[in-house]
Amino acid sequence: GKVGVLFGGRSAEREVSLMSGKGVLAALQAKGIDAHPFDPAERSIAELATEGFDRVFIALHGVFGEDGSLQGALEQLGIPYTGPGVMASSIAMDKIMTKRICVSNGVPTPAFVSLEVASTTTERLQAVAKEFGLPLMLKAPHEGSTIGIARVESADCLRDGFDLCARYDSVILAEQFVKGRELTVPVIGRGRDARALPIVEIRAPQGNYDYEHKYFSDETEYLCPAPLDEALTKRIQTLAVNAFNAIGCTGWSRVDFMLRESDNEPFLLEINTSPGMTSHSLVPMSARVAGTGYEDLCVEILRLATL
Ligand code: DAL
Ligand code: MG
Repeated sequence: GKVGVLFGGRSAEREVSLMSGKGVLAALQAKGIDAHPFDPAERSIAELATEGFDRVFIALHGVFGEDGSLQGALEQLGIPYTGPGVMASSIAMDKIMTKRICVSNGVPTPAFVSLEVASTTTERLQAVAKEFGLPLMLKAPHEGSTIGIARVESADCLRDGFDLCARYDSVILAEQFVKGRELTVPVIGRGRDARALPIVEIRAPQGNYDYEHKYFSDETEYLCPAPLDEALTKRIQTLAVNAFNAIGCTGWSRVDFMLRESDNEPFLLEINTSPGMTSHSLVPMSARVAGTGYEDLCVEILRLATL
């Protein structure tokens, strides 16, 4: 049948999605699948039904693509789609909700508080920084690709960092900074069949794995499989699968962790339910190490599409 590749959209991650979508579209077509591009910024979702798509591959990132709203529309249209459903998508889109669920399911996550933009004073920010220490991470909980994130190094910069995040959300996540190694774990499948792929370690210059380094820089180093002993690898992969299932993810996702330098303890940062599929992206890198090329990976994700 006819497959729609949904990309573009209107979120802050539109540019990333254009890169992901182009890659996915070409891969599915190369595998002989009747795949067609569909940019939700230009067209109404209702057109998916009139176009006669019988499945869609979601290569959208951020709001209206990754947050459950599109998934809800697809449920109503009766068109099976890739990746997690409505509930898991919307939980994972919110870093604060994700952390609450992790905490109650035995998956460690850095200490945090949520701060309402309207009522957070500079004194309150200073008190949080005093409790968690500096640097302090401030994050707009609904953004991706390091958009709306401030790493605040000194008390003087707390207000500016908070105000930057406040451009994106009305509630801000303040999170204890975990000094250590940055890891990510793709998970594919559903329920008991969900399995973790090899762990990727990201080494960005000065620990700055930001938007530029994610998609355009050649300075970032990636190690896959991450050089960790077998027991720790297994432990982190198990945490990733547990988090995936706790949130209710199905299909595929990518779970990001920090591994604390002082004691090798892993802490979950977030779950991405529509991970990047660009040429620099980490799920394809990990799948390749596991013996699955980019095209076969796209076909497998598509095969897991459901309602
Ligand atoms: N938010 C980007 C697309 C990712 O997680 O890969
Ligand atoms: Mg993200």
